[in-house]
Amino acid sequence: MITSPDLNVTYQLDHGVFVLQIDRPDKKNALTQTMYAALADGIKMADQHSEVRVILIRGTEGCFTSGNDVNDFVKAQDMGTERPSVQFMKAIAFARKPVIAAVGGMAIGIGTTMLFHCDLVYAAEDAFLQLPFTNLGLCPEAGSSLLLPQIIGHQRASEMLLLGERISAAKAKEFGIVNDVLPAAGYLEHAMNKAHHLAKLPADSVQTSKALMKRNQATPMNETIQAELLQFSRLLQSPDAQAIIQAFLNKKKA
Ligand code: COA
Repeated sequence: MITSPDLNVTYQLDHGVFVLQIDRPDKKNALTQTMYAALADGIKMADQHSEVRVILIRGTEGCFTSGNDVNDFVKAQDMGTERPSVQFMKAIAFARKPVIAAVGGMAIGIGTTMLFHCDLVYAAEDAFLQLPFTNLGLCPEAGSSLLLPQIIGHQRASEMLLLGERISAAKAKEFGIVNDVLPAAGYLEHAMNKAHHLAKLPADSVQTSKALMKRNQATPMNETIQAELLQFSRLLQSPDAQAIIQAFLNKKKA
């Protein structure tokens, strides 16, 4: 098992469960491009490694992730498919092995969109989900414009993708995005228990079942990610988006 190439992402193999931890608590686990690369590499490696049966993604205490590092939005001009963030979206979208998310605290932007690709999602009572793309002058990414309406219906998806409102863990469960909501002290253990249970089931059977559920998704997913990237890149360079991003960064400096 290789070690993570980034200090803010850790890899751990625990009885067939490959745990990917996002670990940058001083920045609310905001994801940089090198962190995305480590997450993408971890998923791809776990998908190939015979000892890995299940992939589990977690954050730190009280924080899953605040999403893309906003600093990256200033520098980013090219949102091409080689970008680590896009590699990560594709790795999680097309992972053969089951992916479980354990979500505590905030799950913003990609912190929420990645959940739509996971097979099982367990959240702490204090967790909340938010897709603030329109608040930032941006648009959906990671296939969320396709998956979210499919999972929760158009009107509820609009609540999240157009209004950009935060939703609680309880509401996310009601919407069908989250499997179970647990006390903050127990959600991680619960997610690990489920992961270990899944890891003991016959691997071929589990992976074949997942592949069958996802069998019609590949083409529309690739097309959606591509279409979203085109619009995201365009909007990112717009005066509206750049003004909002600068305001966030300037407030930080004040
Ligand atoms: N990108 C870069 N830095 C971020 C970040 C992000 N997505 N989220 C938090 N941080 C940084 C803050 O700038 C701050 O850094 P500093 O200590 O150097 O000033 C630190 O993390 C702590 O965040 P802070 O804002 O003080 O915590 P908070 O609890 O008051 O608020 C958030 C947390 C997540 C609500 C707020 O930081 C926020 O809105 N972040 C941006 C979220 C976002 O728009 N993500 C992109 C989605 S597409």
